[in-house]
Amino acid sequence: METLKVALLGAGNVGAQVARILLEDADALAGRVGARLELTGIAVRDVDAPRTVDLPRDLLSTDAEAVLSGADLVVELMGGIEPARSLIKRALAGGAAVVTGNKALLAEHGPELYAAAEEAGVQLAYEAAVAGAIPIIRPVRDNLAGDNITRVLGIVNGTTNYILDAMDTTGASFADALAEAQRLGYAEADPTADVEGLDAAAKATILASLAFHTSFDRAHVSCEGITAITAADVAAAREAGYVIKLLAICEAVPADPQAPDGDRGVAVRVHPTLLPREHALAAVRGAFNAVYIEAEYAGSLMFYGAGAGGVPTASAVLGDIVSSARRRVLGGPGVTESVGASVTPVGLEAVATSY
Ligand code: NDP
Ligand code: HSE
Repeated sequence: METLKVALLGAGNVGAQVARILLEDADALAGRVGARLELTGIAVRDVDAPRTVDLPRDLLSTDAEAVLSGADLVVELMGGIEPARSLIKRALAGGAAVVTGNKALLAEHGPELYAAAEEAGVQLAYEAAVAGAIPIIRPVRDNLAGDNITRVLGIVNGTTNYILDAMDTTGASFADALAEAQRLGYAEADPTADVEGLDAAAKATILASLAFHTSFDRAHVSCEGITAITAADVAAAREAGYVIKLLAICEAVPADPQAPDGDRGVAVRVHPTLLPREHALAAVRGAFNAVYIEAEYAGSLMFYGAGAGGVPTASAVLGDIVSSARRRVLGGPGVTESVGASVTPVGLEAVATSY
């Protein structure tokens, strides 16, 4: 049986779980792929740092470039913009397929990376970048590609949903709930990205680009986080029959509100929202996520599940690893997971909105 070399960049909350599953489930994965997936190296900042999983020490290295050299498949789970961006570009240029969960990087530099993947004829997959374990990238990009999506409404940040839910149901303080979300591995390395809505805005940028077949600019996403929400706000909402949720909203709107029959634009925004307690999204608890989609032919669809955390997110990453590896084995052309690179936006314009 053929062997494919897998290089892992990062062994934190998600990366350590991906490594564990690659090692523990090696036989089962080989059967599904038709090739063995050999984990050849894991890049970290500090080989002696404590880890959530005991990993073979000889796999750990601080030399990320050496780790990815010669790999068939590179899995980027270090986060941040640099050196992740340069390492991914290097991997793609070297002909490796890349799997990443790095939504901040994709929201800022997606088109450049998708183009690099297309140019190299290899796959760049990123199912884990939006809503953790929930399959949402492929459904929006592939399954709904023949439909016309009109609106995407999502709870796409587990940390903020965990905090708001804890404040609502147990009366926890914002600070205590955030600390617990960090301990459970839901939060970003810098949790400002979660609580200020930036992580949700990055995910909204990716979803909007896929849903509306255009390359969307993160700068057009208006964004307000949850740092100003107080215990009194949460209690007042509860007494009035509402719950506060941080929503990402992507919707088709008239580009010019004065000319409703004219070109359509896409408005994308993230902000705390009052939802009636009987609303489907109000029932999303803890670090779970949900994405509600309205499409012309499919009608309403809802995707729901664990939106953060090492193990659930590893599921999405492993799915991308298996599908990328299968393509390698079959020898087919690299199928781009990209948006925007070869798509001509028709009648769509980014519209910055305020609320
Ligand atoms: P962590 O901060 O827990 O882990 C990051 C890992 O990358 C660590 O092992 C760290 O090494 C390593 N690393 C960071 N910078 C470098 C560098 N310059 N060189 C070498 N290694 C480096 O992050 P997470 O696992 O939580 O997240 C990883 C990615 O997955 C991020 O892009 C995140 O947005 C995304 N993601 C996270 C989810 C979650 O629930 N946590 C869910 C979905 C996506 P060391 O351990 O030595 O410090
Ligand atoms: N920090 C992110 C969250 C991780 O809380 O949703 C999942 O993308």
